[in-house]
Amino acid sequence: MSINIESHQNEKRIFKPAKEFSRKARIGSMAQYQAMYDESIQRPDKFWAREAADLTWNTKWLKVLEWNPPFARWFVGGKLNISENCLDRHLQGPRRNKAAIIWEGEPGEKRTLTYQQLHREVCRFANVLKRQKLRKGDRVIIYMPMIPEAAIAMLACARIGLTHSVVFGGFSADSIRDRIADCGAVAVITADGGYRRGSIVPLKKNVDDALQGGTSTVKRVVVFRRTGQDIHIEEGRDVWWHREMEYVDAQCPPVPLDSEHPLFILYTSGSTGKPKGILHTTAGYLLGAYITCKYVFDLRDEDVYWCTADVGWVTGHSYVVYGPLAMGATTLMYEGAPNSPDNGRFWKIIEDYAVTILYTAPTAIRAFIKWGDEWPKKYDLSSLRLLGTVGEPINPEAWMWFHTVIGGGRCPIVDTWWQTETGGHMITPLPGATPTTPGTATRPFFGVDAAVVDDDGNEVPPNVGGKLVIRRPWPSMLRSIWGDKARYKKTYWSEVAGCYFAGDGAVRDKQGNFWIIGRIDDVLNVAGHRLGTAEVESALVSHEAVAEAAVVGRPDELKGQAVVCFVTVKQGVAATKELAAALKKHVRSAIGPVATPDDIRFAEALPKTRSGKIMRRLLKEIAGGQTVTGDTTTLEDFSILAKLGASPDE
Ligand code: PRX
Repeated sequence: MSINIESHQNEKRIFKPAKEFSRKARIGSMAQYQAMYDESIQRPDKFWAREAADLTWNTKWLKVLEWNPPFARWFVGGKLNISENCLDRHLQGPRRNKAAIIWEGEPGEKRTLTYQQLHREVCRFANVLKRQKLRKGDRVIIYMPMIPEAAIAMLACARIGLTHSVVFGGFSADSIRDRIADCGAVAVITADGGYRRGSIVPLKKNVDDALQGGTSTVKRVVVFRRTGQDIHIEEGRDVWWHREMEYVDAQCPPVPLDSEHPLFILYTSGSTGKPKGILHTTAGYLLGAYITCKYVFDLRDEDVYWCTADVGWVTGHSYVVYGPLAMGATTLMYEGAPNSPDNGRFWKIIEDYAVTILYTAPTAIRAFIKWGDEWPKKYDLSSLRLLGTVGEPINPEAWMWFHTVIGGGRCPIVDTWWQTETGGHMITPLPGATPTTPGTATRPFFGVDAAVVDDDGNEVPPNVGGKLVIRRPWPSMLRSIWGDKARYKKTYWSEVAGCYFAGDGAVRDKQGNFWIIGRIDDVLNVAGHRLGTAEVESALVSHEAVAEAAVVGRPDELKGQAVVCFVTVKQGVAATKELAAALKKHVRSAIGPVATPDDIRFAEALPKTRSGKIMRRLLKEIAGGQTVTGDTTTLEDFSILAKLGASPDE
């Protein structure tokens, strides 16, 4: 849900961290934040070298940063292993038998893995991968439900230098196929299925469909048995996780990896039909995930920390797996939906495990509000000490509800702005220091030189909207788009000279707080998930009935944005309700349920400028201005709309 610039200026409520909270926090005042921030900007090498010393290195770096714009190398010459940082180093002291992962399945099973147990599973699975002849630098797709084995698979890859690419379980076979092809993956780690809202997601079936035809680069599929349903096993290609784990050594030394060794590729939507493989490397990424857990969540040994994101998204990478484990924290994983078996599931989990930190998405909060206060009120939420949000702008109503109903008025809220590309939090309050106001992500994190600029790259005055940019490299930044340096350069570093352009619009107020307005490129944010309009358009035009399609977002109370598709059909095809339903299904199977269109609106022709560009702004206005219930089969007459005042050269 986007925040309009005028309304935020009326938002005056300020929430200061409680004295008690500040007293215990690592950063307990704005003065302390400011001093550290200034140091991070003025003497970045010193700042980052000090923070990086918290990590376990096999070889110390020679140089903190080598910057050949727009290509950065951090901790040049250093070597470390992320799985060693997340596991081995915690085995020496009291964390050895501490819960690393607490997991609950949607049907209700419970499992806890201590650091020692997790270490053992990761070592064993790394040995399984080695036995499959996977070698340092090979790419591996992970397509798993939210089960500990997803984290085990990631950490096992990291242990031996395999580059993983986690594909969200809600993506379709086509999406898996595209990602495999793009990164040249040689193996897939998956499960027979996963549970979601009482039904089973056919993960293995989707992998089979993605690999159909036998031309794929994938030689091996490892299948974890989660649901026990019947699945196809391709002889010579597929192996069962549990069988492979039967006779395997539990010793597997972590491989010292170069700071810039590719850790993972995560695909995300951009302004073209083809998702981009965002490349993150080893040391800088780990430091980013670690240091934000340290200061933004102020994570403590005694915390029970729950980030509700799926490991298929960057939030799951940085804040379910790598960041919290590098801190030696207890991270909770829940497999299923928040309304299974009823609307109180999240609150029951918080009560059952005495969760202290909850990190979730505004879209979930808005659903909770709709379901009613009676659900959280049934449970004891007094263990919570800190709340966080991520993924989209949070509207002040949702913020206030989270603060009062869930946080009992005592928990600070960290509204964290960041992206797949940034690897970790970029603009965020620090809970013991920053006064917060509903709707603003507040201040830049350490080392983040954020600004709001106009089209020429000049910083705009306070309270004026502009493009959100970052003016210098930071350790957990993406290093490139996999296999496409030119696109990396063009997408992120050319829009505003010398700066990283995030794709978001923002306003900075007089106090220096950033208010994120939302995407200003052709990317939608649907229920906190990024979706390229061009991706949906290319899925639509791949349907035989469709001549042309334009996809725009319209504000949606629950999901932030809804997907509205304007479609022209080929000659002789009737624009019927049935066709609209078929198109929705088609997009769903091409991309995945996350992309399911909310409205299909047929048009005789799409409104275009004289140069032939689709007038998206006009379509956005039409999509947003009119309440459409269900699909409309009436043809939109854009010629009339154009006559009503839209400039043809818009
Ligand atoms: O538009 C911003 C929005 O989510 C985008 C990044 O999406 P993705 O790469 O999928 O990563 C989501 C999780 C980090 C951003 O460009 N966004 C993310 N967090 C916020 C946000 N918008 C406003 N406020 C936030 N806190």
